[in-house]
Amino acid sequence: MTRLCLIAGDGIGREVVQAARQVLEALAVPAEFVEAEAGWETFQRTGNALPEQTLAAVQAANSTLFGAVSSPSQRVAGYRSPIVGMRKAIDLYACVRPVQTPPLANARAGVNLVVVRENTEGLYSGQETREGDERATAQRIITRQASERIVQWAVQYAQRTGRRKITVVHKANVLRETCGLFRETALRVLSDAPDLQVEEMLVDNAAYQLARAPERFEVLVTTNLFGDILSDVASVWGGGLGLAASANYGTRTAVFEPVHGSAPDIAGQGIANPLATLSASVLMLEFVGLNSYAERLQTAIQAVLANGPYTPDLAGAATTAEVVQAVIDQF
Ligand code: NAI
Ligand code: MG
Repeated sequence: MTRLCLIAGDGIGREVVQAARQVLEALAVPAEFVEAEAGWETFQRTGNALPEQTLAAVQAANSTLFGAVSSPSQRVAGYRSPIVGMRKAIDLYACVRPVQTPPLANARAGVNLVVVRENTEGLYSGQETREGDERATAQRIITRQASERIVQWAVQYAQRTGRRKITVVHKANVLRETCGLFRETALRVLSDAPDLQVEEMLVDNAAYQLARAPERFEVLVTTNLFGDILSDVASVWGGGLGLAASANYGTRTAVFEPVHGSAPDIAGQGIANPLATLSASVLMLEFVGLNSYAERLQTAIQAVLANGPYTPDLAGAATTAEVVQAVIDQF
């Protein structure tokens, strides 16, 4: 039996993961659910934002749905972001964010792209030092192995989903060694995929092109920091934070999440949009091979997006529960 781990987290994370569980149960997904805890509330209670049992539950599950956690903006001794900790501990090396035109009035038509981001090194290698009061440095680490792995992932994804173009995003004209190694490795991997059209683009131009002509992209593959920023730029076209989903794939398991955070400004009011988490659930069902369930859920989400009801972030007045019921009514 497929085992799915659910981590609600803090704030609206709890509301949207509960909503997803309700929907998955109504869909009669043949899976068992295991709940695990993480986040700020967990840290305050136990001194650890990502307890060992949670990590073990994620590793033992076929896949995990992660809500959102609150992170303090100031340094708090002992606190580490659980999502970053999980990426490291389980080697979730591919961070993937699909962006598609939603069936909403005024949406930009024709957008169907995916940002594939290397998730374990680059400028987020964690090797940062403060040298006295006046200077701080961060190491940007790029390895051939991690570059190869992420580009291979992007190639397989493109082939599996029938996409024909890959854009390699870098800044090798300035970062000659780090981006140079990424670029060289990417182009070599891609030379083994003659069915794909390959294009390279400097990161600043990629941001510009994503803002002005998003429909020209199919799959973008890039390093950690660039991917972080470009995926936020791209998500504008997918209908915003209430709808955006992302996936973190490792070699053995994967963690799916809404892009949004714990939204303390609306937490507890029952008005969080559950659709981002439901879209993340679609990706999760596909990952564990429950494709027909994924399709039914995706169709239901699209129908609710086209006809409402809408939560306040989409200019409606519906509650989370009303949107959940509308999705379930589609089954
Ligand atoms: P946020 O994504 O929580 O909220 C930004 C704005 O979007 C807020 O006005 C919020 O009400 C709205 N919003 C977000 N999701 C929504 C939804 N599903 N439905 C309706 N409206 C929604 O980002 P913010 O405010 O910067 O961060 C709040 C907390 O969340 C912080 O502690 C931050 O560290 C954490 N965070 C956690 C993330 C994660 O767990 N992956 C990601 C981003 C932020
Ligand atoms: Mg981000």
